[in-house]
Amino acid sequence: MLEVRSKRVEEKITFRKRMRLSGRKKVSIIGSGNVGASTAQRIMEKFLADVVLFDIIEGVPQGKALDISEAAPISGADMSVMGTNSYDDTAGSDIVVITAGLARKPGMSRKDLLEKNVSIVREVTKEAVRRSPASILIVVTNPMDLMTYLSWAISGFPKHRVMGMGGALDSARFRCFISDELKVSVENVHAFVLGGHGDLMVPLSRFSTVAGIPVTEMMDKSAIDKMVERTRFGGAEIVELLKTGSAYVAPAAAITEMVEAILRDKKKIIPCAAYLEGEYGVKDLFVGVPVKLGSTGVEKVIEIKLSDEERNSFFKSVDRVRSGVDEIKEMLGNF
Ligand code: NAI
Ligand code: 2OP
Repeated sequence: MLEVRSKRVEEKITFRKRMRLSGRKKVSIIGSGNVGASTAQRIMEKFLADVVLFDIIEGVPQGKALDISEAAPISGADMSVMGTNSYDDTAGSDIVVITAGLARKPGMSRKDLLEKNVSIVREVTKEAVRRSPASILIVVTNPMDLMTYLSWAISGFPKHRVMGMGGALDSARFRCFISDELKVSVENVHAFVLGGHGDLMVPLSRFSTVAGIPVTEMMDKSAIDKMVERTRFGGAEIVELLKTGSAYVAPAAAITEMVEAILRDKKKIIPCAAYLEGEYGVKDLFVGVPVKLGSTGVEKVIEIKLSDEERNSFFKSVDRVRSGVDEIKEMLGNF
């Protein structure tokens, strides 16, 4: 027993030394559930960074990290994936991804769930940023736009170093439905979604294209409307089918797209929940807008001119996000 424990300590030290010497990037994922573990696997397979998977449940992050590591020789990825219950192992991360949280259980009200996830995200943000004060935070836990605001407020980080993942997933869903309907390559389809990550999100068909051709020229309005509706309820559709949880494969791909854009300084335009200070007529709120992601985080919020109808839909979504943030402020007596 003692031998096993000392071997583990030795492995931990070797891992930390290796990371320090390699100059490789480090991503910590807080919450090693379905989304967290799938994200770790994708980051490893894309050779993006060494990954630390953290969870409060003992054994789970270690078991998942070991399972992912054992796939590395097959994918040829020399990245380390480590599981831990100690925040100290997350120290010095370049990016911290927050996926810790509870899913709604039978008998639990929306408010109960909100209170639980507020308390989790508050705690994990404090612990993570203390160890990684120069990191970039990507918040995933739902309700994502509200949790991103909370995490930003707790962290004290500048706005460009905190963002939420929602739009990358929602626009991938929209692109998937368009390519499926038109029977064209997913690579030909570009689309994006504005607003909060909820059923009031605004998939923008006017700015969605297939090989540069506006989708509105390739499909009639009723077909587009159906896809817009399906995108809005994309998360719920999966929950209804899975019954025991929510989507995690596409969410992990979306998080990894953001991680890659930052670590490889790609300057990639991706819809993310970003802090707005007047852009789109919104102040002091995180909502989904197209942003340029690079090595410093959110490098620019891209503003586009909306039609009256698009603006109205966007503001309905913004109002929903704002009332949620107000609810949290009331719950916590500010932050
Ligand atoms: P999950 O239930 O599989 O994993 C959540 C993990 O968080 C569990 O392993 C749990 O032990 C851990 N956890 C709970 N409290 C913790 C704490 N205090 N510290 C550290 N870890 C803690 O859930 P899943 O499917 O991975 O989803 C995670 C979150 O992401 C949920 O809130 C879900 O709604 C959200 N989500 C958001 C998406 C988005 O587009 N923003 C997409 C998919 C999921
Ligand atoms: C989704 O959209 C649950 O937010 C999650 O799948």
